Amino acid sequence: MSEEFEDKVKHYRDMGKTAFVIGYTGECGKELVKALSKNRIFNKVVLIGRRKVELNPDPGPEFEQKIVDYDKLEEHTEAFQGCEVGYCCLGTTKAKAAGREGFIKVDRDYVLKSAEISKSAGCQHFSVVTASTADKNSMFLYIKTKGEVEDALKKMSFDKLSIFKPAFLLCDRSERRLGERVTQFLMKPLICMFPTYSAVPTSYVGGAMVVDTVTPGDEKLRVHNNEQIHSLIKQDKKN
Ligand SMILES: NC(=O)c1ccc[n+]([C@@H]2O[C@H](COP(=O)([O-])OP(=O)(O)OC[C@H]3O[C@@H](n4cnc5c(N)ncnc54)[C@H](OP(=O)(O)O)[C@@H]3O)[C@@H](O)[C@H]2O)c1
Repeated sequence: MSEEFEDKVKHYRDMGKTAFVIGYTGECGKELVKALSKNRIFNKVVLIGRRKVELNPDPGPEFEQKIVDYDKLEEHTEAFQGCEVGYCCLGTTKAKAAGREGFIKVDRDYVLKSAEISKSAGCQHFSVVTASTADKNSMFLYIKTKGEVEDALKKMSFDKLSIFKPAFLLCDRSERRLGERVTQFLMKPLICMFPTYSAVPTSYVGGAMVVDTVTPGDEKLRVHNNEQIHSLIKQDKKN
């Protein structure tokens, strides 16, 4: 860890803040929890999900899991209470969500509802993973939905909003996704030639979210594209 980054971590930790993470059981979410556990920048981290999981390795005593029903999130406002910082790594696929409606419900509605409730509960800095291609005017469902989410979040006026826009996510996915495996295989030459352009490991996304959090600055909106996610993570590693 570079000395400069270490100073930022110490300074941030001294503020004694509380955070929540939604989507912590997913690939980016798991890496975010690891990065939060390594850097210990919060007094308390509430992991909000639809099911309790065994956290391996144990992230530490400041991490607490809270189970919610995402279809009745307004009944779970207490889970978000007192969290000054929020992270969202939620997402699904059309196949997993049994179609278009299910996909929109998770990738747009759950994300925006969580953001809305957390803001009312005192969240000042909201960080979200969307996608490099996000565009609310697109005719493609995935790209359009991600764009609509970015647009709506920008209108919510958080004190600070950080948007992470990864291209293809590289990870050893616990769930089988044939399409992703084929894409990864086909993209191999492109990834080798332009390593920071077309893909990013999920560990970089999680790590970059922490680097962004501890980086001071008055800007209300920070947008990190795939290449910027790669550069952010270098700050954590520089000697
Ligand atoms: N795959 C890519 O190459 C790629 C590229 C760019 C951006 N992205 C975006 O990056 C984000 C993170 O991706 P990821 O691959 O880390 O996600 P992931 O591994 O699929 O994890 C998704 C998370 O969302 C939760 N979730 C899914 N359906 C839910 C539901 N119906 N109710 C409540 N929670 C639900 C999952 O909880 P459970 O564990 O309980 O299911 C999990 O915690 C997503 O928004 C994705 O669209 C992906």
